[in-house]
Amino acid sequence: MSGFQRKLTLNLFDCTYKKSEDYGPLSDIETDRIIIFDTTLRDGEQSPGASMNMDEKLRIAKILEAMGVDIIEAGFPIASDGDFEAVSEIAKTIKNSTVCGLARATKMDIERCADAIKHASRGRIHTFISTSPLHMEFKLQMEPGAVLEKVKESVTLARNLCGDVEWSAEDGSRTEHDFLCRCVETAIDCGATTINIPDTVGYAVPNEYADLFTMLFDRVPNVDKAVFSVHCHNDLGLAVANSLAAVQVGARQIECAMNGLGERAGNAALEEITMALKTRSDYMPFTTNIDTTLITKASKLVSTITGFSIQPNKAIVGANAFAHESGIHQDGMLKHASTYEIMSPESVGLGQSKLVLGKHSGKHAFSVKLKELGYDLGDDAIKNAFKRFKDLADLKKDVFDEDIVALVDDQVVRVNDRLKLKSLEINCGTVHCPPRAVLELEIDGDSKTCDSTGDGPVDAAFNAIKELFPHRAHLQLYQVHAVTGGTDAQAEVTVRLAEDGKSVNGQSADTDTMVASVKAYLNAINKLLVKREKTAPSALSA
Ligand code: KIV
Ligand code: ZN
Repeated sequence: MSGFQRKLTLNLFDCTYKKSEDYGPLSDIETDRIIIFDTTLRDGEQSPGASMNMDEKLRIAKILEAMGVDIIEAGFPIASDGDFEAVSEIAKTIKNSTVCGLARATKMDIERCADAIKHASRGRIHTFISTSPLHMEFKLQMEPGAVLEKVKESVTLARNLCGDVEWSAEDGSRTEHDFLCRCVETAIDCGATTINIPDTVGYAVPNEYADLFTMLFDRVPNVDKAVFSVHCHNDLGLAVANSLAAVQVGARQIECAMNGLGERAGNAALEEITMALKTRSDYMPFTTNIDTTLITKASKLVSTITGFSIQPNKAIVGANAFAHESGIHQDGMLKHASTYEIMSPESVGLGQSKLVLGKHSGKHAFSVKLKELGYDLGDDAIKNAFKRFKDLADLKKDVFDEDIVALVDDQVVRVNDRLKLKSLEINCGTVHCPPRAVLELEIDGDSKTCDSTGDGPVDAAFNAIKELFPHRAHLQLYQVHAVTGGTDAQAEVTVRLAEDGKSVNGQSADTDTMVASVKAYLNAINKLLVKREKTAPSALSA
């Protein structure tokens, strides 16, 4: 059966619970619509250092929903209480996307997952087990027969708890074909309505991966009862190419992540997948539900929250992706944009930076701007943001949309902080005296001051924080980037701290790089304290 002609007996977009017999006879649903399944919050969060707290996950989930992502994989509920709470909160909040949780092929995992998604308007259980000879022998230490039995048990249990079940063959691309066919057929028979064949280790090449799907479509008798899905890792830089190759032979769900986040070299990048499908619809006649004009905003949010900066030449979302530097290219662009531009910056939401409001702008205009930028803040938060905007407008000649976003994001992350910056004075320069920081912090309502030195001003300031609030956390990342151009631009700083194998990212933005650095460090400490409180309520002091 060729992919383009593949007929399905179930409606891909109706995820309400139905018993398999309710789907009725072959209903000839042929679709060229590609289902976008985003795993930024699950596979993406598995990247070392990319951990996010619940609030951050919710912010990302909301923008994914606004973009029109069909399925949001919100986490792995059994992994920790934090993961469970995040999936559960996202399931309660998100209305227009299906919210999915991951579960291994065990009763405990699947029941915990079902519990986490129980409030979702549309929920999905995604259960998986390894099927390749290597994984079965060394990772699972199970015989193929026992694995097949697990497929049966796990999908049956999941399907009894949720009407929408996805089954994945981990390391599917390196699985022996006869065994893969038996597993897929069994999973569908037991009620899985999506079958995912991951290229877990990023080993496949496009034609080979497409042939694997064609083989399944030709050999598995009940393929018409499930949507086939791709999940490609980017170890050889082929994740997007492999995903698109499989779609061209009949796969209809693509699992991907914003900015290509994910284990090791990451997953296929959502922005690359959707823009490739949109730009080359002449060659690949498929559609998605994605509003691509939100790509830039989503990419920036994920990058800020995770502290994973985007390389300038990264496709679609890199700072240079739409920049034309050479004289020949600029000349061509001026004559006709399509000489060197295959997609417009506006199509990914990269408009000209607009000069927004000046220091004479009123509160009403400011609230309208906040709404336009997607913020829905309460009265007190608007009042606070407006005051900070006025302070910024006094310091900075031009205030852009990006400045407002940085300012409000900075405010959102600081609610309920136990450690707050009161004042900072820095001495540094070329003369032979050590860089020095005089720092005043408010810690649980008490003011504390100290004077520290260091190898540079940042080191001096961070040493001062450590003196005032002793802690064991290690600095893993310190990163600064300018929110807009110009020497008066706000500096956006990310600080990653690690303690007992767990890491958190702190962020802040300010026109003063040192102030932003201290606030980002404090933000990371505050997050660590919340983490500690959740694991050991008594260990709250430094
Ligand atoms: O890469 C992989 O195989 C996975 C599965 C859990 C789907 O992430
Ligand atoms: Zn994966």
